Amino acid sequence: MAETPRRAQYGAQAHVDEVGKLPTPFPRAVGPNALKYLQEVVDSGLTVDMIGRFERAFAEASGVAHCIATPGCTPALAVLAAAFDFEPGDEILVSPITDYGTIQGLCREGYIPVFPDTDPGTVNMSAATIEPCITDRTRAILCVHKTGIICDMDPIVQLACAHDLIVYEDACQAVFGKYKGRLAGTLGLAGGFSFDAEKTMGSDVGGCVITDDDELAERLRFIGQSRGAVMDPGFGRRHTVAGYAFRMPHCTAAICLAQLEVIDEQVAQRDRMIRLLSDLIGEVPSVSPLPIPDYMDVYSAWMFGMSIDPDAFACSAADFAAQLADAGIPGAGLGEYYLMPEACDFLKDAAAERRYPYCNPPASRDYAYGADSCPTARDFLRTWIRWSSFCEKYEPEHCELAASIVSQVADANRR
Ligand SMILES: Cc1ncc(COP(=O)(O)O)c(C=O)c1O
Repeated sequence: MAETPRRAQYGAQAHVDEVGKLPTPFPRAVGPNALKYLQEVVDSGLTVDMIGRFERAFAEASGVAHCIATPGCTPALAVLAAAFDFEPGDEILVSPITDYGTIQGLCREGYIPVFPDTDPGTVNMSAATIEPCITDRTRAILCVHKTGIICDMDPIVQLACAHDLIVYEDACQAVFGKYKGRLAGTLGLAGGFSFDAEKTMGSDVGGCVITDDDELAERLRFIGQSRGAVMDPGFGRRHTVAGYAFRMPHCTAAICLAQLEVIDEQVAQRDRMIRLLSDLIGEVPSVSPLPIPDYMDVYSAWMFGMSIDPDAFACSAADFAAQLADAGIPGAGLGEYYLMPEACDFLKDAAAERRYPYCNPPASRDYAYGADSCPTARDFLRTWIRWSSFCEKYEPEHCELAASIVSQVADANRR
């Protein structure tokens, strides 16, 4: 009998095998008021408005008018996709190096994800890589701030304005990161966040959308939380659109609220430690940490990543990463699976077979996915090693230890 493929794991389960000499995110440090807020939920007999309290607190901390809480970022971006109400076959330009959660909702709406390539040497797309992908079917640009490095948003927003496109952000990996003094998630029309257990504000599962746009916020609540239903006196709920039941649970909101109270210091620690770690590892010949752009005031780093020069080492990048993991860096590995045009077999198949929405109409041209559709991102990821366990528990001695492990593995494999 054919072997059943192992299902992917998420949250703490995905990290159980990660052991080594450096801190790991799990067990998570949870804000001191978590139990108090959870107790309130229970003591109130589930009547306390913990979701509203979290939404107001997160909106205030982000300096925006609205926060709409969801059970995760995947649903947050799905509700946004539904709220935009584009036509099936319309195109959304979206970062190619990301998580499936970025694109799930727009695929479900029948929109077509188009992946501009990344800028050379980075994990993000830019105005220069986006511009050639704009067509008369493009409706929006969805920017992902991979690892916590914020895309250079000003030129992207400028480009979008010139073509009358919406810009919005998947800020899952950049919570409270700052670009030129402004917070990630506030740089476009709306921003989506994840409070998944392993994320920077890890809380359980959870997420939200933030926006200053009153009309969009109302639509997000209607479609995302009210199942697209209005109250018809004498009848009851009438579903005027196919909405979702994407409400954040009150207990999750209680943990999110407690995490929000301690996030500033945690983000500051991540920023300090990622800069120190990058400086130290940058001293190892033929190893290049991700460049931190000058416009990043706060690098709320969720992940550390570095490129190795393949000509300098006798081993492959995968071997190099395995040796780092063996030497004590938990979670060290390649991230080739982040390349969505390659990882999403269902997209490749649908486009190749011209299945809906890749048939004409609603599509107005042919599409092809796969790694070769984004050659810069493809080549970059082949020699990019990251560790998924970078977290706020790092202290300077951990950065020094990590750098010395990288240096030893590099020296042992140098040609
Ligand atoms: C960039 C990005 N977008 C979306 C998601 C999905 O978030 P959630 O797990 O909260 O649905 C993740 C989670 O890994 C992510 O990293």
